[in-house]
Amino acid sequence: MHLNRAIAALAGLLAALALAVPAHAIDIEQVYKFYCAQCHGLTGKGDGPNVGADFPVSPRNFTNAAEMNKLSDADIKNVILDGGPAASKSPMMPPWGKTLTAEEVDGLVKHLRKLCKCKGKQG
Ligand code: HEC
Repeated sequence: MHLNRAIAALAGLLAALALAVPAHAIDIEQVYKFYCAQCHGLTGKGDGPNVGADFPVSPRNFTNAAEMNKLSDADIKNVILDGGPAASKSPMMPPWGKTLTAEEVDGLVKHLRKLCKCKGKQG
């Protein structure tokens, strides 16, 4: 009897603990900094530390609204998931579909829209 009560109490405690831990929230700026900034630059200007003279193509400048407006959100998402070649772009842009979660990819699309201060091609 006592043991059952102890187990019930323990189960209750664990449930309370699970509730106390905040839901996994992604910090998209950290994700961007970690995976994208070395090429696209911290502020998105395409001037990350990885980009040297031997870099054959410049990473997209995300603050260039005219260029970024040529892409729909779906276009951006595809390039992030499948890499440059999937959109007839350079393989210097790696695919991230196996690395990032769907939530992170959606967050990055929104983050890039913030950097360009543009809405992109609709549809
Ligand atoms: C190793 C360097 C590198 C990293 C890391 C990188 N990119 Fe790129 N990215 C590039 C290059 C280079 C291009 C330009 C390809 C071209 O124009 O042919 C590009 C292009 C893009 C484009 C397409 C823009 C367009 O005009 O079609 C998007 C969107 C993009 N990157 C998003 C990201 C995101 C988001 C991340 C992080 C998850 C990231 N990139 C990480 C190098 C990189």
